[in-house]
Amino acid sequence: MILLLGASGYIGEAFAQELTRRQLDFVPLSRSQVDYSRFDLLLEFLRAKKPAFVINAAGYTGKPNVDACELDPAGTLVGNTLLPQTIAHACAAAGVPWGHVSSGCIYSGAKVSESGKIRVEKDFTKPELRRLVAQNPAAVRGFTEADAPNFSFRARPCSFYSGTKALGEEAMADLGQSYVWRLRIPFDEFDNQRNYLSKVQRYAKVYDNVNSISHRADFVRACLDLWQLRAPFGVYNVTNPGFVTTKHVVEQIESILKPARKFEYWANDEEFYRVAAKTPRSNCVMDTTKLLAAGVIIRGVEEALEDSLKNWQPEN
Ligand SMILES: NC(=O)c1ccc[n+]([C@@H]2O[C@H](COP(=O)([O-])OP(=O)(O)OC[C@H]3O[C@@H](n4cnc5c(N)ncnc54)[C@H](OP(=O)(O)O)[C@@H]3O)[C@@H](O)[C@H]2O)c1
Repeated sequence: MILLLGASGYIGEAFAQELTRRQLDFVPLSRSQVDYSRFDLLLEFLRAKKPAFVINAAGYTGKPNVDACELDPAGTLVGNTLLPQTIAHACAAAGVPWGHVSSGCIYSGAKVSESGKIRVEKDFTKPELRRLVAQNPAAVRGFTEADAPNFSFRARPCSFYSGTKALGEEAMADLGQSYVWRLRIPFDEFDNQRNYLSKVQRYAKVYDNVNSISHRADFVRACLDLWQLRAPFGVYNVTNPGFVTTKHVVEQIESILKPARKFEYWANDEEFYRVAAKTPRSNCVMDTTKLLAAGVIIRGVEEALEDSLKNWQPEN
């Protein structure tokens, strides 16, 4: 049996669907049934039910967006740092392997490969980097699992949410057997206030930047594949290989969905942060070489994006 924590959430729901599709026996557990954030209760549950694997899709995401985490730092820390630490200790004590949904939002920017040298650029709103992205996208490389987070409490500025996600990874490191699955900006074909493609369509103005993104069903499939392939435990960036600019996503929305509205962009960072956002946002490119080398098959970002828009199902 597989124990699924956070099954009621946006990502947990996708895990539940994929586990059902694979006909894998699983138990979805909500805090309302057993408060799995308590070490004693979780350990008792693990010892009684003896799951073969635990999936942690629970965590604290700010709603409607990451700015909300700044208003509830204690809740954010509890959900994103203390919870994975508790699960790590309980799973280690019970001898159960597990996987944790983390986030790519602990990075900012991307690496740039030019003249045989690689450097990190944290801000891709700079005009010269926008030109590079347009003219030579192959020069833009993602952060690998070996790169230390550069958008965290140890490398400020960061959002409180990102800081707690990075600390969560630290808190579970070297404890038992676990996967850290880094999700980044989930999207799919189902219109939903949590879906990146829905958000882009509903923003008053769009913030153009460069990002790796994760198709929700592709993400959970890749996570389960890592476990079923018995890939080595450790950290994996789980995004659709490649990256997109928000501008390109908008162009695809315009070309495929043909919305009535016209899209406008924030003039610059100064306007975006003055009017629309309170805390710094992570925009980053992730390297998926490790995921692919483990034998996971996952569509490139362009294919996943186009497929989602071509099969778009508007919310009623
Ligand atoms: N959605 C994104 O954009 C995104 C991007 C990157 C990473 N992630 C990560 O993916 C994981 C799941 O995100 P999600 O979007 O599915 O979140 P969600 O829809 O808000 O669901 C999270 C679930 O976590 C459980 N939970 C346990 N402890 C919690 C706490 N202290 N505060 C709030 N909820 C708690 C709740 O389930 P019960 O109360 O029923 O147990 C809740 O339904 C999180 O770790 C998040 O950081 C999300």
